[in-house]
Amino acid sequence: MKKTILITGGAGFIGSHVVRLLVKSHPDYRIVNIDKLTYAGNLENLADIENKDNYKFFRIDITNMRQLRELFSKYSFDGIIHLAAESHVDRSIDSPLVFIRTNIMGTVNLLNLAKEQWKTGMNGKRFYQISTDEVFGSLDEGGVFTELSSYDPRSPYSASKAGADHFVKAYHNTYRLPVVISNCSNNYGPNQFPEKLIPLAIHNIVNNRPVPVYGQGENVRDWLYVEDHAKAIDLLFHRGRIGEKYNIGGTNEWKNLDLIRFLCSIMDDKLGRKKGTSAGLITFVTDRAGHDFRYAIDSSKIRRELSWEPLVDFKKGLDLTVDWYLNNTTWVQHVVSGQYKRYYRKQYGNR
Ligand code: NAD
Ligand code: TYD
Repeated sequence: MKKTILITGGAGFIGSHVVRLLVKSHPDYRIVNIDKLTYAGNLENLADIENKDNYKFFRIDITNMRQLRELFSKYSFDGIIHLAAESHVDRSIDSPLVFIRTNIMGTVNLLNLAKEQWKTGMNGKRFYQISTDEVFGSLDEGGVFTELSSYDPRSPYSASKAGADHFVKAYHNTYRLPVVISNCSNNYGPNQFPEKLIPLAIHNIVNNRPVPVYGQGENVRDWLYVEDHAKAIDLLFHRGRIGEKYNIGGTNEWKNLDLIRFLCSIMDDKLGRKKGTSAGLITFVTDRAGHDFRYAIDSSKIRRELSWEPLVDFKKGLDLTVDWYLNNTTWVQHVVSGQYKRYYRKQYGNR
């Protein structure tokens, strides 16, 4: 094998797309995926590649140094692509501590082990931190986040990701650890846990349940199809400049309410419902505490340096996503487990 790459959080939404892409496009790499398999991690996401010769999975918690040490004693990693995280803002509002443990302490555990393993030579090595645009805080109607925007996290989730990013930068500055960081906008696509806006709305529309829209639905997000993000990660892992940060985004801003209405019209077509039926399910609910108003990303750096651009437009991406959820009802049933239902009831009551 030419390289051994560690991917953390590879059983989650974005991680599973990154694992699949690298396993398939780099047959000469050994891909080692570690994941704790929290409520959000699902090995069914990787069923199609789990028996590939160049792929290995270990159930490991990145906050558990003993488990991590054992792994690092077995493998010499050439690179680490770090995605494992607690990722849902509403859960972070409910229980911030687990975000601090996994997102900050887990990241520092990995940084320490990379530093230790690479102490005899950092040439050709790379620690790649997958981060979010949410670390930059909230925009009003105008402006965009660039790589030079200051960090101004406003939720426990974004604060924990910002903390992790700062440690990654600090390890580069202090120990010369070869790092790259990317900050991406909201992803959507197959395999996303139905607690995030788009899969939750699809699931509820299919089941004729209310579609909860926070506040007045005025908040704005910039949406990117998950496979476009995975391709950007592949490029940056190989060709991003050491010590640099890169923004990744879809240049595809939508107000939540407009997005949900658009999704409803697509779902009406797919489900053979009369036009306007699904939109009747839209229900305004209490706003999220400290709800960031708008995110928007300037991704000109990665476009310019690596010729990356999103290939899947929003209509096409939503079509692919809705089709995937309609064709994978077993996946959805398995995911909608008891634990998810308890969380769901707490968040939305009996709606
Ligand atoms: P996800 O919640 O779907 O997946 C996270 C994965 O990490 C799960 O498989 C989970 O089991 C695993 N995990 C959680 N805690 C762990 C621990 N202690 N040890 C080992 N594994 C653990 O999240 P996602 O949406 O796929 O996000 C992946 C990464 O991308 C995160 O770092 C997130 O901050 C970042 N990101 C996400 C988005 C987005 O829109 N989803 C946008 C930008 C950046
Ligand atoms: P989400 O998918 O949780 O991503 P993030 O908060 O990380 O951007 O939410 C996307 C947007 O949709 C955000 O403005 C909150 C809003 N939202 C709702 O209106 N209703 C919901 O049920 C959820 C989960 C989110």
